[in-house]
Amino acid sequence: MSANKSDHVALAYDRWAPIYDLVFGPVFRRGRRAAIAAAERAGGRILEVGVGTGLSLPGYSRQNLVHGIDISAPMLWKARVRAVAQGLGHVGGLAVMDAEQLAFADASFDVVVAQYVVTAVPNPERALDEFLRVLRPGGLMVIATRIGAEGGLRAVIERRLMPVTSRLGWRTEFPWARYANWAARAEGVQLVQRLPLPPLGHFSLIQFAKRQGHAVALADR
Ligand SMILES: C[S@@+](CC[C@H](N)C(=O)[O-])C[C@H]1O[C@@H](n2cnc3c(N)ncnc32)[C@H](O)[C@@H]1O
Repeated sequence: MSANKSDHVALAYDRWAPIYDLVFGPVFRRGRRAAIAAAERAGGRILEVGVGTGLSLPGYSRQNLVHGIDISAPMLWKARVRAVAQGLGHVGGLAVMDAEQLAFADASFDVVVAQYVVTAVPNPERALDEFLRVLRPGGLMVIATRIGAEGGLRAVIERRLMPVTSRLGWRTEFPWARYANWAARAEGVQLVQRLPLPPLGHFSLIQFAKRQGHAVALADR
């Protein structure tokens, strides 16, 4: 079931790949910059989940080691071309992989970054669990994302748009409560920041820290 849904999302982004930078490059620029700045403050081994065409890759400083994964091979191909063309030596690897089943050992990274990805994956909480698993204790999760309205007209519109946007590769309906509930259940997770981004605050920068001493508990889940 989940695999089929992931295939469907991959196909949607396979189709976006040729024009993605043109359409979504400027739209997400502000959030991308904010996410990179947050990741840079922590630094070290960085995993960018849903790296897409690699628009963010040149933004990381060369002292860090960045790995990128994405479920869409055509999107990732563009990231590879970018990394080679721009000589991005800090990019350690780019692999086709599902955010819900990361092929990395526990505690492999200092920072996990996900920009405009959580609302695209079929089972967001499963992906968040995976981000936490591959993060070292004390590490940082940086998420740039759209937060859906809790109520009112915007919530109604977002719900109505769901059938359309799902076909395009993302969901419009995704309230903050999903993150809050996940963090409450996950244990060992601390909200560091929830920052609505201008101009309208529909997109936010969210940071969670993985508390020290939770590696075993998470690995056992
Ligand atoms: C809206 S794009 C964002 C791309 C990039 N992070 C950016 O800021 O431009 C969403 C990306 O998430 C990827 N994606 C969706 N579902 C995924 C999954 N289950 N595992 C890994 N990547 C996924 C898509 O292929 C796409 O590249």
